[in-house]
Amino acid sequence: MSNVEIKYTKLFINNQWVDAVSKKTFPTINPQDESVIVKVAEGDKADIDIAVQAAKKAFQRYTEWRTLDASQRGRLLFKLADLMERDVTYLSELETLDCGKPVKQAYGEIIWAASIVRYYAGKADKILGNTIPADGEVLTFTLKEPVGVCGQILPWNYPIPMFIWKIAPALAAGCTIVVKPAEQTPLTALAMAALVKEAGFPPGVVNVVPGYGPTAGAALTHHPDVDKVAFTGSTEVGRIIMKGASAANLKRITLELGGKSPLVVFNDADVEKAADIAHRAAFANAGQCCVAGSRTYVQSGIYDKFVAKAAEIAKKRSVGNPYEDVQQGPQIDPEMFNKVMGYIEVGKKSARCVAGGNRHGNKGFFIEPTVFADVTDDMKISNEEIFGPVQSIHKFETFEEVVDRANNSNYGLGAGVVTNDVNIALAFVRHVRAGSVWVNTYEHVTAQTPFGGFKESGIGRELGEDGILQYLEIKTVTLSLPKKPLL
Ligand code: NAI
Ligand code: MG
Repeated sequence: MSNVEIKYTKLFINNQWVDAVSKKTFPTINPQDESVIVKVAEGDKADIDIAVQAAKKAFQRYTEWRTLDASQRGRLLFKLADLMERDVTYLSELETLDCGKPVKQAYGEIIWAASIVRYYAGKADKILGNTIPADGEVLTFTLKEPVGVCGQILPWNYPIPMFIWKIAPALAAGCTIVVKPAEQTPLTALAMAALVKEAGFPPGVVNVVPGYGPTAGAALTHHPDVDKVAFTGSTEVGRIIMKGASAANLKRITLELGGKSPLVVFNDADVEKAADIAHRAAFANAGQCCVAGSRTYVQSGIYDKFVAKAAEIAKKRSVGNPYEDVQQGPQIDPEMFNKVMGYIEVGKKSARCVAGGNRHGNKGFFIEPTVFADVTDDMKISNEEIFGPVQSIHKFETFEEVVDRANNSNYGLGAGVVTNDVNIALAFVRHVRAGSVWVNTYEHVTAQTPFGGFKESGIGRELGEDGILQYLEIKTVTLSLPKKPLL
């Protein structure tokens, strides 16, 4: 156990720490031993309203924020990245406490998140419009302007990276923000809010209101003064948000939702390397990853060898105390633990379990890395997002067959292909319908690479140039030119 100090448990509004209007609090649980870590102020509609008004005020004309040079917005973001690196040890221990991921992994994620802050810091004064050769005697150009007040609703699987994916492009664009972290993981969002203040962002620019989805989250979605909602989470809630955003004020939305991403291994691949890539694709973050490569397709020539290797690697995966040097900690909460164990029971009845299949230990939400072989596309474990440490291996014969099977999903977030034949790789890239495709690697996501889904995996993109465009409105300006020269 770590004795990490908890400094912030209140709502962060207007650069101040305040109780909820209702004075209510809610517990956040340590998934390692199921104990209550601390109680956090529970934001609701009334608090969201106060936070939105703060963000709206900060976005008005002539405020400190709106009159700041774009380069100075960048400077504040650079400062925030420096502070994250200064506090990386503390932040990673706090992250592990609240969500159970191995502390080494949390450390790496924070360094990665800081690189994303720097990418957008550099972008702040490089938001360019176009000059356009419009028909007529006119001069036409475009301005890219901040979309306004943004509501940002976060998931619990990568709390600090998701906080940064949301706030960094929005701040570089000049927006103001109300963040609602996931109810399972409010602590690092509040610690990050303290760094936002220390970096020097003016009051009201970033506000953080912990609370539950159907109350605080819904209040953001339905708020008439919120111009955009950015959400990462389940497809189910994505639908609710799209509906709410449309009913309220047609606010803009970006949605990063679920997946059932295929990873396809061809006969010519090196079995050891392919099994390793497929293992990391399926088990990263205890399988609690939107882009998890949860459907492994293996060509028949190497299928048996691959299954044996996949089982061997999974059995060796170290699971346990996330403050120690392990590869996998607990699942996030009892709901997710039970959901994943339910899928494993269903899997055992339909497919061949070649590794794991049980709870790990008897305290905390730990699950054994589990591998099913001989999975067919009609099985529940092949169709539904499990969001746990479960790999499903399918056998295939031909390229045409596997592309159709890979695409036979309502989701389209990620896809992977492992082959040494460039023609097979490029043909797969061309035909697979997914927002990110990886060849001979998986889940290589950086500040520069747009990330998001086809089909029911989402709307819009985060990261990269495309990520900041989602926080900008385009204003087209047309000036009439005099017909005759003035001189
Ligand atoms: P969720 O979609 O319910 O929660 C994500 C966020 O949405 C949280 O901040 C939650 O408070 C908020 N939320 C919930 N209901 C809301 C509502 N009516 N209005 C506005 N905001 C709302 O996800 P949950 O329940 O934690 O996990 C369920 C499933 O979602 C998982 O099994 C997994 O399949 C998927 N998931 C996907 C994630 C991703 O990275 N794409 C992350 C987390 C979960
Ligand atoms: Mg939910």
